[in-house]
Amino acid sequence: MATDGRASEGSGMTRRPLKPFLKWAGGKRWLFQSGQFSLPSFTGRYIEPFLGGGAVFFESQPKNAILSDCNRRLIELFVVIRDDLQPFEALMQNHASAHSNEYYYELRSKQLETPTARAAQFLYLNRTCWNGLYRENLKGNFNVPIGTKQTVIFDADDFPAWSKALQGTHLKHRDFEEAIDEAEKDDFVFIDPPYTVRHNMNGFIKYNQNIFAWNDQVRLRDALSRARERGVSFAMTNADHESIRELYAGFGRHRQLARYSVIAGKSVHRAQSTELLITGD
Ligand SMILES: C[S@@+](CC[C@H](N)C(=O)[O-])C[C@H]1O[C@@H](n2cnc3c(N)ncnc32)[C@H](O)[C@@H]1O
Repeated sequence: MATDGRASEGSGMTRRPLKPFLKWAGGKRWLFQSGQFSLPSFTGRYIEPFLGGGAVFFESQPKNAILSDCNRRLIELFVVIRDDLQPFEALMQNHASAHSNEYYYELRSKQLETPTARAAQFLYLNRTCWNGLYRENLKGNFNVPIGTKQTVIFDADDFPAWSKALQGTHLKHRDFEEAIDEAEKDDFVFIDPPYTVRHNMNGFIKYNQNIFAWNDQVRLRDALSRARERGVSFAMTNADHESIRELYAGFGRHRQLARYSVIAGKSVHRAQSTELLITGD
């Protein structure tokens, strides 16, 4: 099998799949765990323009990866874990020892000077804030209140393994269009945008950099369309909604994905929702 995927059988480079270090809205670990998707074979580079918590990258750890996101602080955290691990881990230990309600709000309000200090602040807040949410106020400051979770460092944390997986990756803070436009023949792009659908009207909310408007969905389809003409293959998850199916009518193969979620911790009460997988090569 012609593949550059590190986790592929026969590549001789199989690595243990890793859980992401971030709790991130829309994380895609379930996609692999449910057995509904695995990375296809490809010979070029792996490009992931909506990195988020990096669940897809850490699951398969493809070689020659170019990872990006429009969240500057998130990319900075990945860079620090790749390049400055020991000081970062020491700062995480300090935050874990000091964690309290007062400490959370004090650290949240600080404008820190160095990338490593900001990265540890980011991960500490991600793990202790309400529901792992990321939200900024008008001034661009993180403003999510403290949550109920007290654990700052988990037994299962393996920062050296995350750092090792990130060695050799290119990490960039940028808009998705620039990332997709960079893809060339034989590259593979995994795309997991925010699930905006046409009726949301959320394009009117201009202040929040994480808002993905309908116009961005159209821009994404157009960028993908150009990439396909250059011989790029892709897989995209998106909302299983008629506006998305219409936007991609006649474009790639469409498959419905089933998502089961546990309600109130009781696995007997499971709710099913669906998402859309669109692939093309
Ligand atoms: C659904 S999440 C990706 C989740 C990821 N697949 C995971 O498993 O954790 C979508 C990501 O897109 C990013 N994003 C939103 N608008 C973007 C844009 N215009 N360009 C690049 N990234 C964007 C957000 O910051 C967020 O991290």
